[in-house]
Amino acid sequence: MSDSQNQSGHGNKKENSKSDHHNEAGMWAFLFSMAFVFAFFIYIVAIHPGIDLKENIHAPVVETQSAADEDVDVSKVAEPWVANDDMVKHGKKLFAQNCAMCHGAEGKGDGPAGQALNPPPRNLVEGPWKKGGGFVGWYTVVTEGLPGTSMAAYGHLKSVDRWALVQFIDSITNAKVKEDPKKVAEFAKSAK
Ligand code: HEC
Repeated sequence: MSDSQNQSGHGNKKENSKSDHHNEAGMWAFLFSMAFVFAFFIYIVAIHPGIDLKENIHAPVVETQSAADEDVDVSKVAEPWVANDDMVKHGKKLFAQNCAMCHGAEGKGDGPAGQALNPPPRNLVEGPWKKGGGFVGWYTVVTEGLPGTSMAAYGHLKSVDRWALVQFIDSITNAKVKEDPKKVAEFAKSAK
C-alpha cells in the first residue's frame, strides 16, 4: 500500500518535472512567435511600401469631386435672383447633390435614377418648360414640384439655395427665357 503510494508519488514528481520542461520549450516557442508577429507588424507598418494602415480608398474620388464642385459661401448675397457666378457655382454643387441622380450630372435628363420614370426627368439643357421656365418658372418648379410627375418639391431648401439651382440651370440651358429683371425681383420678394 505504502509502496504503491510512494511509487505513484514518485511518478507524479517525474511527470511534473517533465511537463515543466515542456512548458519551458513552449514558453520559448511562444516568445519566438510573439517576436515574429511583432517584427512582422513593424515591417508592415514601417517598412513595407505598399501598405498604409491610414489608407482610405475613397479619398481620391472625394478629392476630385470636391475640387470639381468647389462650394462657395453665398449666405451674404443680398439679391440671389440677380445673375452672379458664385451663385452658379453653389448651384452646381447643390445640383450634383440633389438633382443629378435624375437629371444627370450635366442636366441632360440622363441620371441613373431617372431611367425608369414616366415621364422621364427633363433634359434641362433642351427644355421645353411646362411652367414657363426662366428664373420665375424654374424657381416655382423647384419650390412646388410638378404634380403628376416624379419632380418633387424642394421648398425645404433655403430660398438662396433654390435661387442658386435656378442660376445653375440658367447657366447650362440652351432654352433660356428672356425676362424683365424688375419682374423677377418683384416675384422674388413676394416668393416664399
Ligand atoms: C426623382 C427624380 C428627380 C429629381 C431628384 C429631380 N427632378 Fe426635376 N424633374 C423630374 C421629372 C420626372 C420632371 C418632369 C419631366 C416632364 O414633365 O417632362 C422634372 C422636371 C424638372 C424641371 C422642368 C420644369 C418645367 O417647367 O418643365 C426642372 C426645371 C427641374 N426638374 C429641376 C430640378 C431640380 C433643380 C432638381 C434638384 C433640386 C430636380 N429637378 C430634381 C425628376 C426629378
